[in-house]
Amino acid sequence: MPRKILLGFIVGFLISATLSAQQAWEEVAPGIWKTIVGNPDDFNLLTAAGVSPKLDGLKKMPAGVFPLDPSQIVLEVTENQTQLRFPLQRDEQLFGFGLNFKTVHQRGRILRLHVDHYGDGDNGRTHAPVPFYVSSAGYGVFVNAARYIDVYAGTGSRKDSPNPPEARDRNTDNAWTSRPYSDAVEMRIPAQGAEVYLFAGPTSLDAVRRYNLFTGGGPLPPRWGLGFTQRVHRLFTDDQVREEVREFEQRGFPLDFVGLEPGWQSKSYPNTFVWDSGRFPDPEGFMADMMDKGIRINLWVNPFVSPDSPIYKDILPLTGSHTVWAGVVPDFTLPAAQEIFWKLFESEHIAKGVSGYKVDEVDGYDQWLWPDVARFPSGISAEQIRQTYGLLVQKQSAALFRNKNQRTYGLVRASNGGGTSFPYVIYNDYYNHRDFITALINSGYAGVLWTPEARASKTAEEWLRRMQTVVFSPMAMINAWASGTKPWSYPEVEEEVKSMALLRMQMMPYWYSEFAKYHADGTPPFRGMNLEEGFSSSNQQLTIADEEADLEANPYAEAIRKEVKDQYMAGEYLLVAPMFEGETTRSVVLPSGKWFDFYTGELVGEGEVISVTPGLERIPVFVKDGGIIPMTEARLHAPAKGEKYNLEIRHYGEKPGNYLLYDDDGESFDYEKGDYSWRKLSVSDQRNGKLTGSVSKAEKDKPDNLDQITWRFMTNQ
Ligand code: GAL
Repeated sequence: MPRKILLGFIVGFLISATLSAQQAWEEVAPGIWKTIVGNPDDFNLLTAAGVSPKLDGLKKMPAGVFPLDPSQIVLEVTENQTQLRFPLQRDEQLFGFGLNFKTVHQRGRILRLHVDHYGDGDNGRTHAPVPFYVSSAGYGVFVNAARYIDVYAGTGSRKDSPNPPEARDRNTDNAWTSRPYSDAVEMRIPAQGAEVYLFAGPTSLDAVRRYNLFTGGGPLPPRWGLGFTQRVHRLFTDDQVREEVREFEQRGFPLDFVGLEPGWQSKSYPNTFVWDSGRFPDPEGFMADMMDKGIRINLWVNPFVSPDSPIYKDILPLTGSHTVWAGVVPDFTLPAAQEIFWKLFESEHIAKGVSGYKVDEVDGYDQWLWPDVARFPSGISAEQIRQTYGLLVQKQSAALFRNKNQRTYGLVRASNGGGTSFPYVIYNDYYNHRDFITALINSGYAGVLWTPEARASKTAEEWLRRMQTVVFSPMAMINAWASGTKPWSYPEVEEEVKSMALLRMQMMPYWYSEFAKYHADGTPPFRGMNLEEGFSSSNQQLTIADEEADLEANPYAEAIRKEVKDQYMAGEYLLVAPMFEGETTRSVVLPSGKWFDFYTGELVGEGEVISVTPGLERIPVFVKDGGIIPMTEARLHAPAKGEKYNLEIRHYGEKPGNYLLYDDDGESFDYEKGDYSWRKLSVSDQRNGKLTGSVSKAEKDKPDNLDQITWRFMTNQ
């Protein structure tokens, strides 16, 4: 065949391959479409996570329409890479692309999604670089590939674009910009193909919900997981832990679980995974004592196996070519490696009473982790293992507890797309209070949980401010592995810290129900304002602040965006606006409708920007009109299985309202067999204009842990 004709054939084949890929969108679950481009890797994010969609939740969602014009989506494989293009409208905003720390709005950003320890710049290298984004136009896109994906989130301009930027003369035209208009999100995947998913709205929150449900729904932590946790100094002995627990009790500080850091093991970095007989001579007895006091134990580990570990010899052939701190790296994609590794965890830890793990160092840094030239015995590339290691350890460790019909709730330093349902919260070593809040916001777009842990602080004020945000987060934790800090370490604010910690415990019925909603309908318990109805983007100054960027001196200066990244929604009704060290006043952007002060019930504003001066002892929290917050008494431990608790139901504002209160045994997976209940708390308007509250009856044969119920009308007393 002459070369020209052959070329024509190849080009024709490529074009038709592109077209057929464009047309082959299959609705795989309600409002979720999938297509396959080229020949994707067999091993991807979803195979690593191994989760199934929560179809019951998805079926309850409104019917979805295919959210984009398919002819505007271009998916193609060219020379060892896959390229994707999705259209963007002029006023669309983008959110997501994983756990970013400094930015919420992602339109205009360039990222390489790469699992790594966050290093002070939103460039895609982060603990959970989830290839999922959601648009303000109410749809989501997920790329299921365990690869380092390049993202151009509305930055490139093509000459064949239907909306090309105008060429302007920089000499004379003030409207010239170094970042001309772009009408597409483009991505590059270094592989021969990829699976792509589209999620319908109609709202952005619906698209997020669909993604979360598709990847298994949020985890339902045990009740104790939502209580307070302290991580002790890395070289503590059992007696020192006992002493610390005693002190919590004596001082009246709540505590549900204690984290032991590396020194519980005979050797760490790399690890033996067996107890140090000097510091913990009788782990079983120690944990039984702790359990008697209502305290559970969480163990720090990283997965790198020491030559002195009892499993070293057996696992050696099932590990990668490179070591980490001279420890071998299990290939967790291999069932044989899983078997050897986790069996030790089962017998040495869980059978002796351990309730959860903190799985460290599965993210990076590059200097420590295996390089991308490493080989793994499964034949799966180092890049793919890097992108999924966090998912694999979460899935496999969580299964150990599930096998015992016992829920867990732990910590992990890496995750990725598909990890929504794992009972793990991400943390890191970076320590910027403001950025921790931005990460909390972004966790809600990425199907992950994040803790803004408190470690130590330079001042009492900073300590209190950090503890306040910890209380309004997925895990209320002090991580004192290095500093040994206690909640009372700053005596000037001891009482304020204590009352915040007790508030966390009072709010337990609310937190638990909000997590149950994450599980059942995919609504992230902690999320950004842009997912909130009535939050107008006109409240956000998204334009370039010309006065801040001297475009004359540097015409290529990055557009400075003012975005709302320091306030967030916590559960159905609460808006949290943390205070940071040195601040006495801050502004808060209220979505439309009336908002009320959480502590006093007073009206604070309506669809406007307010300024608040809350004093040191309070973190500003506001409640939506008609909001109902179920609370209980201040207590030191979360209610145990079968333990009754009193309910104080608070209502805020002028409107009637409803709340679904979730209940079950709080510890096992029996809820999967139907052993759970949703009770309806309702506030209605009586003829005399007064509000009254009612609680639906407990269903027969369903869990009912409620004791006395009282109502508190915070606004209309
Ligand atoms: C770090 C981890 C810390 C702490 C420490 C113990 O890598 O992020 O939270 O656990 O290890 O050595």
